[in-house]
Amino acid sequence: VRCGPRALDALVRDLRTDLPGRLLVLVSDSNVAPLHAEPLARRLRRLGLRVELVCFPAGEASKTRETKAAIEDRLAELGAGRDAAIVAVGGGVTTDLAGFVAATWNRGVPVVQVPTSLVAMVDAALGGKTGINHAGAKNRLGAFHQPWGVYADLSVLSTLPEADFRAGFAEVVKSAVIADARLFAWLEEQVASLIARRARTLRTAVAACLGIKARIVGEDEREAGRRSILNFGHTVGHGLEAATTYTLSHGQAVACGMSVEGELATRCTGFSVDELGRLRGLLDRFGLPVAVDRRVPVEAVLEAVRGDKKNRDGQLRFALPVRIGRMAAGSCWTVPVREKLLRSVLARRAGV
Ligand SMILES: NC(=O)c1ccc[n+]([C@@H]2O[C@H](COP(=O)([O-])OP(=O)(O)OC[C@H]3O[C@@H](n4cnc5c(N)ncnc54)[C@H](O)[C@@H]3O)[C@@H](O)[C@H]2O)c1
Repeated sequence: VRCGPRALDALVRDLRTDLPGRLLVLVSDSNVAPLHAEPLARRLRRLGLRVELVCFPAGEASKTRETKAAIEDRLAELGAGRDAAIVAVGGGVTTDLAGFVAATWNRGVPVVQVPTSLVAMVDAALGGKTGINHAGAKNRLGAFHQPWGVYADLSVLSTLPEADFRAGFAEVVKSAVIADARLFAWLEEQVASLIARRARTLRTAVAACLGIKARIVGEDEREAGRRSILNFGHTVGHGLEAATTYTLSHGQAVACGMSVEGELATRCTGFSVDELGRLRGLLDRFGLPVAVDRRVPVEAVLEAVRGDKKNRDGQLRFALPVRIGRMAAGSCWTVPVREKLLRSVLARRAGV
């Protein structure tokens, strides 16, 4: 994993020396392709590498079987065989989608993750989870496929739209809540500097999150236990994404999800009301939502939560904090929550 202002230089060097002779298929979305993937393709071609670029329409609506099939059809036209490598250049939609294509193309070819959004840099590009959505269920189809490398070059964040940039802080805050109280306190001090996209502060935040995720995934690659803590805020968050047909961005949904699940934690794990206040306060300062919009149908959120993969024997289970920086070990790092409690927290439209 490379993280820093020169990560793209390292990527070019590594592709040239360590994947020689491969057909490099850059996969990118319609926003990121002209900004970052095309210049990268030109640079690689100038070095004599075999490079193709495959582009798909930007947005969560593209995380589908149809888009995956379209990319695969294009790979077939390009004559990509087992000698191909996929280079995913984009946000979390691209890293998930292109990663899944790589996982199944010819029973698996290498994927190189080049995250360009903050969500992808601090979370999606690392850890090997790839996938697409299916009939309203997030990430229902997918595979574990570890990246050949991850290259997080912070300079690409300069073109990321403000709303998408802010959304990334939901995953940054999550990383701190689940594993690092000092990082959380540091974030509280650095909000202004981070929002101003100061390079050094951003690098510290991204590197800290990558370190946290790498440690957790290193311990439990296939989510048999502790990796579940990375789902804090995501159980309700995925429900909100599905219930709003993805008009809420992933980061916004996770922020709201942490607000709701944090409240559940005050009832189930002894998470303090003061710390819930700090969590909501920090999310709010990053411009992220902490209250569920009144127009969101609670039943649709519950329906999605009932289908969550952590549930067992019809019991809803959540990854919940006991305090900032520490998650409840429970059974397999999840805690049972009665549906009645979740319904009442959602119905009160949890928030400040
Ligand atoms: N696999 C995992 O472990 C994991 C973890 C977290 C999130 N995710 C997934 O990631 C997705 C959300 O990621 P996201 O918020 O990055 O979504 P995204 O990929 O849709 O990117 C958000 C928007 O920013 C644009 N963009 C990205 N980088 C840009 C840049 N540098 N300049 C200009 N525009 C840029 C994209 O085109 C898009 O419009 C969700 O599907 C979520 O499920 C996966």
